[in-house]
Amino acid sequence: MTIPYGKQTIDKVDIKAVSDVLGSEFLTTGPRVKEFEEKFASFVNVKYAVVVSNGTAALHLACLAAGLKKGEELITTPMTFAASANCALYCGAKPVFVDIKENGLIDESLIEKRVTPKTKIIIPVHIGGLPCDMEKIQAIAKRYKLVVIEDACHALGAEYKGTKTGDCKYSDMAVFSFHPVKHITTGEGGMITTNSKVLYEKLLLLRTHGITRISDKLLNKKEGPWFYEMQELGFNYRLTDFQCALGISQLTKIRRFVAKRLAIAKIYDTALSKIDGIEIIKPSEGCKDAYHLYVIKVKDAETRLDLFNYLKSKGIFCQVHYIPVYWHPYYQTLGYKKGLCPNAEEFYGKIISIPMYPSLKRWEQNKVIEAIGSFRKRKKILALIPARGGSKRIPHKNIKNFLSRPIISYSIKAAIDSNLFDEVMVSTDDKEIAEIAQKYGAKVPFLRSIKNSSDHATTADVIEEVLTEYLKRGIKYDYVCCLYATAPFITPEKLVKAKKRLEELEVDSVFPVTRFNSDIKRSFRIEDGGRLKMNWPKYSNIRSQDIVAAYHDAGQFYFLDVKNFLVQKRIFTNNTLPIITSELEAQDINNDEDWKIAEFKYKALVGK
Ligand SMILES: Cc1ncc(COP(=O)(O)O)c(C=O)c1O
Repeated sequence: MTIPYGKQTIDKVDIKAVSDVLGSEFLTTGPRVKEFEEKFASFVNVKYAVVVSNGTAALHLACLAAGLKKGEELITTPMTFAASANCALYCGAKPVFVDIKENGLIDESLIEKRVTPKTKIIIPVHIGGLPCDMEKIQAIAKRYKLVVIEDACHALGAEYKGTKTGDCKYSDMAVFSFHPVKHITTGEGGMITTNSKVLYEKLLLLRTHGITRISDKLLNKKEGPWFYEMQELGFNYRLTDFQCALGISQLTKIRRFVAKRLAIAKIYDTALSKIDGIEIIKPSEGCKDAYHLYVIKVKDAETRLDLFNYLKSKGIFCQVHYIPVYWHPYYQTLGYKKGLCPNAEEFYGKIISIPMYPSLKRWEQNKVIEAIGSFRKRKKILALIPARGGSKRIPHKNIKNFLSRPIISYSIKAAIDSNLFDEVMVSTDDKEIAEIAQKYGAKVPFLRSIKNSSDHATTADVIEEVLTEYLKRGIKYDYVCCLYATAPFITPEKLVKAKKRLEELEVDSVFPVTRFNSDIKRSFRIEDGGRLKMNWPKYSNIRSQDIVAAYHDAGQFYFLDVKNFLVQKRIFTNNTLPIITSELEAQDINNDEDWKIAEFKYKALVGK
């Protein structure tokens, strides 16, 4: 059971609304379009609303309606989805990025410095649902005669100083998105709101190829009932009737959706503000945050990555909103340089969006809160796969194909799939092994020393070398799991089980063992003369089932507590716990025959 960061809430009424339209006369450009627009306009308290195919189209049309042209400039924030800036590029204009404040919103005090004679539009983005300081932005826009388009894609249901976001009290237009993670959804969809009749009519024209059929708008004489004119270069940015029907149905629930988001946010606020190292973003004075996202901040990028992976390992799938727009390769090719907006870059390094959607259950939210709380107490774990180049017994043993792929890839995959590890690394002295390991997702941050690349080096020597090298780099692990490079039978489940035991039972190490022949003590040797002799005469009178069982290393992995290991320098201590593994899954591969047996068993067990 996984918990995403956001998702749609669709019920039977929504489904019926869509299917009713599917059975009706109009699939597109029918009565639902106008109805959705009117109901939406009424909800946000604005005169006009124009529905379009998505939020990106809404931004594009709004810029065109505002008359944005080649060579002009559009001011926006880098802390947004690329579409907020791409709309400038679509018009041949240049996006100009203004840095952000601590809460992630555009810093209005920096806007004026970036206004030039070419500036035409400001697009403030209400990130996460938190409204920008629109009064100040509007004042700047008035001073320089700029058009303000609010990117309200995250902010349906938000309020700024007692007015609804989208009512355009402080802007010329506002745009919304109905992508599934947003407050309401139409699958894909968008809306532009405005109080200007001129802009409204322009938007309608541009949405449908720049074509009009309205008699008193025609430039030429109407030649008959079929007649229409293309007056501008417009687009097909229409939304279908069945999508609008979904939008109408969703809109009836918007108050409940927003109230639920606010209730979830309140619980997060209280719980998370008590957790050390977690910073929450508070709504500004006089604003109602619509909580499209719930964003938390941690100390630095390394902690953010650790937290992200830690939550993922617990089935909680977060996201990061956003990578600064100008960091994207496309923007880099346009000449934007990293370092342009230092606050946005720092903000990006620390943020993570945690689950927030109306159907998030209380127990799911508790799970998220508990996981964030336990993150600081978590164990930092390294997966280490020793893979020396010079195996004498089987040439290129570690990278030889086992059925369809290099054998080392099996342990790498099991380690990655277990979601247990902060890093999965291979310790090798061989560049070819390093390359293949990296291809399958492992890291090779350094090559193994010559000293530990001979047959004399023990596994403990290699583990010690790796841990010491990490310590030198300031990285301290609590546990290390040393996986055999030739161990196709390791499963993520077994790794998880071993880690659980290591943690809960506070032992020094855990590793899989297999019961081998319990009658070994009744083994025989063949003496000169070809007669059998008992190896262990004292067992000759004991029934084989009564002999104490004997186990050996199952050839899979050793899960170790690093602190103990660094003192004892041994894998096996008198505080080692076994995981009993069936003989079928255990396989030490030391020679070609072992290899063939392992392939045969693997095909039988896993079927590939
Ligand atoms: C801030 C912002 N603006 C614009 C868009 C574009 O909306 P759409 O995905 O509907 O095209 C998004 C989409 O996520 C967004 O987050």
